[in-house]
Amino acid sequence: MAGELRIGATALILVLCFSMSCHFSFVAASSSPQDIQILNAERRIDLTSHIIKVFLTLKIENTGESPASEVLLAFPPTEFDHLALIKAAVTAGKQKKRTYLPLDVKPTELPNGPNGAKFFSISLLNPLSKGETATLEVLYVLTHSLEPFPAEISQSESQLVYYRDSASILSPYYIKQQTTFLRTPSNKVESFTRVESTNRAGTELKYGPYSDRAPYSFSPIIVHFENNNAFAVVEELVREVEISHWGSLQITEHYKLVHAGARHKGVFSRVEYQSRPSFSGVSSFKNLLARLPPRVHSVYYRDNIGNISSSHLRTDYHKSELEIEPRYPLFGGWKATFVIGYGLPLQDFLFESPDGRRYLNFTFGCPLVETVVDKLTIKVVLPEGSKDPSVVTPFPVEQRLETKYSYLDVIGRTVMVLEKKNVVPEHNSPFQVYYSFNPIFMLAEPLMLAIAFFLSLLFELAVAAAAWEAIQIWLRRSQSLSSPRTKMSKVFSDFGEISLSNGPQTAHEAMLLR
Ligand SMILES: *[C@@H]1O[C@H](CO)[C@@H](O)[C@H](O)[C@H]1NC(C)=O
Ligand SMILES: *[C@@H]1O[C@H](CO)[C@@H](O)[C@H](O)[C@H]1NC(C)=O
Repeated sequence: MAGELRIGATALILVLCFSMSCHFSFVAASSSPQDIQILNAERRIDLTSHIIKVFLTLKIENTGESPASEVLLAFPPTEFDHLALIKAAVTAGKQKKRTYLPLDVKPTELPNGPNGAKFFSISLLNPLSKGETATLEVLYVLTHSLEPFPAEISQSESQLVYYRDSASILSPYYIKQQTTFLRTPSNKVESFTRVESTNRAGTELKYGPYSDRAPYSFSPIIVHFENNNAFAVVEELVREVEISHWGSLQITEHYKLVHAGARHKGVFSRVEYQSRPSFSGVSSFKNLLARLPPRVHSVYYRDNIGNISSSHLRTDYHKSELEIEPRYPLFGGWKATFVIGYGLPLQDFLFESPDGRRYLNFTFGCPLVETVVDKLTIKVVLPEGSKDPSVVTPFPVEQRLETKYSYLDVIGRTVMVLEKKNVVPEHNSPFQVYYSFNPIFMLAEPLMLAIAFFLSLLFELAVAAAAWEAIQIWLRRSQSLSSPRTKMSKVFSDFGEISLSNGPQTAHEAMLLR
């Protein structure tokens, strides 16, 4: 029954896809924006994780008269929405001496792009003249592009997902020769679309080679396969990096984690989970690995209940690895909220630039491995008195300034806030925050401490003085009320000890009264 339903749904999706492909071929007549053709294209799609990586190698040729300085990449709108990152490089040299020179990639508009196709433009280092060829390497990363089907599974079931794409590469250019390879995590492939030249061997699925495909050729495919990898998605991550010129960098990271795979159905049996780990809850996860910088110290891991003791830290000269275990294993749809905090030596991350400004050189992204972050916020809290902050990031991020007031601050601290959506491990690269700093502010904190100490001293003195005042008033009042001298002497012999310790004046008065 379930099998029939599944096949039915697949068929329906395929029909929908094919009706889409008709639209594509309908508009396929639009001409190439430039006179470029692709002599050979190879695409490798890695489906082994929930983060999909696509490696594209394009051998391009300029067939026009004028030099070509940019090359376009086209994406269907649905894919474009899930695109986390795109990088390109041109290869130079042959075989072992081959080098990769990174190229600029920018989103661009094309008025006659069919069916809402979206474009990126790669800028070549040297324009290609007529008849010249170049080989480009492109990497792009897609998130939230595997649809669990069935959408709900029980503890004993394995997780199956759909991946949709096209057997031929969507491109504004004519492609002479092309092949696409898809790699699945296991041999377990339930179904895949068979078009002309489709082959499957083990974990590899091959579409092509195809020759002489017109611009914007599109041939929808759908692959249904097993993927039990941890679908770890951090819906929101806020990382606070606080710089103190007194020697340390304090990092606090707030995570809202979810298992974004097929939703868990039915009750959770811990007994079954623990006794049959290879069959039960295969798509769930209970450990997470955080890669932290070397020389990390004062590490803690807690949630809203309190400290979680199940974490292990391994450090060496190059890195630190923190293995954490949430309070319960995470099944599809389950969430966990926690905080990781740690300290780092300032000299590893804070430097002075040639123009005398200081800068923090830190890693962007998320320390948890193989994790997608839907929304990442990094707050760099600069020391008090910092001025003119500016940021250098390897890719565009949103930025704004805030002010934070904490214990002992006089004028508050400038906070550089960086925000980015759809962050993948490939975004873990260095960024810098530059700022000017007047060393006089180094004294602000100790000065505040000294002032606080002085004030508290004054306060204590004032309290002591007030107390003495009160005693004197009380004495005067009792003196005027009761005259017998003996009674007074009794009182003052009681006070004598205290009075003496409070200075000569009191001792003298006590003597007189006696
Ligand atoms: C949690 O751990 C931190 C750091 O190890 C410690 O300072 C704090 O007192 C602990 N809190 C509780 C409630 O155990
Ligand atoms: C930042 O640090 C990385 C290594 O973590 C280094 O390669 C890079 O050159 C540094 N950038 C600056 C501007 O200091």
